[in-house]
Amino acid sequence: MLIVIIVAALTLLASLPFWLPRLVIRLRLRIFAQVNGEEGIQVEVSQFRALYENPAADGRSRGAVLSDLFWYWLAPGPQVHQEHLEPGERYTDVARTTRRILAGVHAHAAAVAAACADRVLDGLERRVNPVRLRDLLMPLWAEFYYQLVFDEPCPLAARDLIVGNANDVVTALKCCGLRHMDKRERLTRYLLKRIESGEVPHPLPSSLTIQEQAWYLQGTFFNTAVVQSSEAMAHLLMAIAQHTDIQRGLVTETVDLDNVMDETLRLYPLFGIAHRITTGEIGAIPAGSVLLFNYADFHQVGFDHPDRFDPSRWKRLSVKEVNHIPYGVTANRACPARGLMPVTMRAVTRRVLARFELRTAASHTRSLPNRGPCLLIDRRSTAKRALGTRLTLMRLRDRWEDVSRSLTQLVLGSYMVWDARRLRLCGRYFEQHRDGLAVD
Ligand code: HEM
Repeated sequence: MLIVIIVAALTLLASLPFWLPRLVIRLRLRIFAQVNGEEGIQVEVSQFRALYENPAADGRSRGAVLSDLFWYWLAPGPQVHQEHLEPGERYTDVARTTRRILAGVHAHAAAVAAACADRVLDGLERRVNPVRLRDLLMPLWAEFYYQLVFDEPCPLAARDLIVGNANDVVTALKCCGLRHMDKRERLTRYLLKRIESGEVPHPLPSSLTIQEQAWYLQGTFFNTAVVQSSEAMAHLLMAIAQHTDIQRGLVTETVDLDNVMDETLRLYPLFGIAHRITTGEIGAIPAGSVLLFNYADFHQVGFDHPDRFDPSRWKRLSVKEVNHIPYGVTANRACPARGLMPVTMRAVTRRVLARFELRTAASHTRSLPNRGPCLLIDRRSTAKRALGTRLTLMRLRDRWEDVSRSLTQLVLGSYMVWDARRLRLCGRYFEQHRDGLAVD
């Protein structure tokens, strides 16, 4: 009898990675809905573009409980974060500044990104380097965006500040850790000092105070830009590591890297759900409604075998004619970096592939909470000893980490949703600034 109990207990334990994480995620979503309330209209795929492009779907923050959560995760200074500014003069001023700063680097973006990649890759000295792709790539993008903003090479201390901030934001967003406002505020103080000393060589939005300008730089370039670039590149390299045939094709240039990038962002869009608040009626939808645009669902419809990672489909398809909006819709505040990203991602991928073969056995999901475990194998090395064993161990470790991570996400996620609801950063801001203009 005892043996039966022991065997049953061991079987249950061994099976945990196969069912517990999924169950915990479902529970977490239910708790989120309980605390936050069920809010918003899930936009049908058939209406997706028409509603997204509708001029009345232009509210960004005011009037959605969901905004409290995003403001909480993006603090400090979420009220001047471009993504969350309501349309109006401030938004126009901020968006114009972002476009100008991004345009400054365009002509030599590929070269700057490649140089940043080389510096980071030089740090990998082993024949087989186990890395988490997001962690490996974040310093690279921290250097890149520092150079973009300050027009000078990034000192190590500044890079650490930027990575500390961006990593804290994305870890909290994925409910893998709590916010550490001290880390974020350290970067704000640094930026404030640089602005006050006249060391930012770009005109900053004149409608913002100096404090707000520091938050703006932090939010757009040292938070969104660093996080999104690191996540997008981690997805791309994970996909390449998982598909060795595609990887070989990229090295021999028989596979088109642009097709691989399109397919990666189709299957792993960086935005799960974007929301808008309607400022006027749209048919039967009243003003003040929260519209939820689910990118992953939209990217599934109209493709053969939509779950399959198949870059070759893009040889026959035109991105403009299918459900593919990795950078949002042009008519409604699309991503200002949509021109820059493909150029820099191409450059970094080529540098990585020139030096390393990539292999992974870890899971690859849209939210990538495992940060992309991967082996980077020096191409000059002929010894590929024990690669099979290393990959098996990686898979086992990833599965077990999934169990503990899902529990962490359940506890910390529930706490943060509750805390954000309690603080009501967005709700309170608009109660104090009824005209939407800050007077902090
Ligand atoms: C591959 C990387 C990236 C992807 C896939 C991406 C994707 C997106 C998407 C889908 C949106 C629209 C969201 C919505 O409609 O609510 C967006 C908005 C935005 N993105 Fe990106 N992004 C990327 C990189 C960047 C970078 C590097 C920056 C740095 C400047 C950036 C800054 C922004 C800003 C400021 C907005 C808000 C635009 C506005 O409301 O005017 N993104 N991004």
